[in-house]
Amino acid sequence: MSEENVILVLADGSKVTLPVLGGSVGPKVIDVRKLYAQSGMFTFDPGFMSTASCKSAITYIDGDQGELLYRGYPIEQLAEKCSYLDVCYLLLNGELPDTTSSSQFKNLVSHHTMVNEQMLFFLRGFRRDAHPMAVLTGLVGAMSAFYHDSIDINNAEHRHVSAIRLIAKMPTLVALAYKYGVGQPFMYPKNHLSHAGNFLYMMFGTPCEDYIVNPVFEKALDRIFTLHADHEQNASTSTVRLCGSSGTNPFAAIAAGVACLWGPAHGGANEACLNMLNDICQKGGVSYIPTFINAIKENKDVKLMGFGHRVYKNYDPRARLMQQTCYEVLAQLDSQSDPLFQVAQALEKIALEDEYFIKRKLYPNVDFYSGIVLRALGIPTKLFTGIFALSRTVGWIAQLNEMISDEDYKIGRPRQLFVGSPRRDMDELQIPENAVH
Ligand code: ACO
Repeated sequence: MSEENVILVLADGSKVTLPVLGGSVGPKVIDVRKLYAQSGMFTFDPGFMSTASCKSAITYIDGDQGELLYRGYPIEQLAEKCSYLDVCYLLLNGELPDTTSSSQFKNLVSHHTMVNEQMLFFLRGFRRDAHPMAVLTGLVGAMSAFYHDSIDINNAEHRHVSAIRLIAKMPTLVALAYKYGVGQPFMYPKNHLSHAGNFLYMMFGTPCEDYIVNPVFEKALDRIFTLHADHEQNASTSTVRLCGSSGTNPFAAIAAGVACLWGPAHGGANEACLNMLNDICQKGGVSYIPTFINAIKENKDVKLMGFGHRVYKNYDPRARLMQQTCYEVLAQLDSQSDPLFQVAQALEKIALEDEYFIKRKLYPNVDFYSGIVLRALGIPTKLFTGIFALSRTVGWIAQLNEMISDEDYKIGRPRQLFVGSPRRDMDELQIPENAVH
């Protein structure tokens, strides 16, 4: 961290000196922790437009360059050369595993994929038509009731055990939520399969016949997991950190992240994007795009889902990788003429050339193509955000563990700019005499 200061001159001429901290790469930050003590003022930044909420060594994004690094490694290299579980190891431990550590980690995770049988009774309490994210939020929160031997967030061993349990069991929970919704028997995990292969098996296998994992689908899903594994201090990760900062257990903190992810401005965007593409197809396909683009320009509430990002003001590197995966999966299915894919490509081209999107630096994000891939794999639209949640779980855990291990960590407690009524007295009111009885 560099030694530099900024000096604020206040209206009364007094001065406040604030340290400037520099990270390894990226913009410097003004350390405002002592601002209130020195000036009696808070900073005001709803939506965290200019606020770094923590220091972190896990994921770095350069939004102007369209660069994403996990522990320093570019996402393109990781997506090409590593499995999702190796990426999990990297996010959790800071380094990629060697061959021995890689197989030990895979072995560890695959031997924790079953869930407590009692959880199936809990699951059966939900309506079958419940949204899978509602079910998932409940199931993840309930893990603290089923695995209460690992819920002390201040105990490093507990954090490790709950991390492995969460990474291993999330795919099982998502598949359970799916099977429950469609009324099919639950499939127990198979340890010889890869993480992605096992998920496909639990989703689409039945006890009636053998299920052979399609290697192209397995690779595509593994890539989807990798691309969604972490993304620095986004809304759900910040939620996990804030929730965990009270000292609550890891399962409760991750359940909060799942709930936050559900929203259409965040993880719900891939579901919303696919619904949007379907809608365009039904209204005339490619020929309807100009009308749709005009509707966006005329009404602020209409968004091009899968476009735009708080941090990326350039092409999201994950969107490029996802587009490539889209080609691979559709080629395997011999359905490159998929109308949704045609519409998505035409929409992207038109939007990237349109002044409205250029001016606002709106580019495709990861969700623009992920929905088409997931749909091609047979995943129902309502489960898309669940896939995102199972992929992001490792990022949430890595960030939570980093926060707890940070000696500067404190409970998160923002302040406010109060705009309500100042103190007033009830004596001035005419309250009916018997109102309190
Ligand atoms: N379509 C049309 N216009 C858009 C879009 C979009 N997708 N995104 C932003 N804009 C416009 C806004 O209306 C605003 O216009 P204005 O300057 O005329 O008022 C301008 O671009 C700036 O946008 P903000 O909403 O201020 O940007 P913010 O950083 O708050 O929002 C967000 C980012 C939420 C992702 C937004 O771009 C959006 O809603 N996109 C669609 C949903 C989506 O794809 N979400 C996935 C994000 S990636 C992820 O979570 C994995």
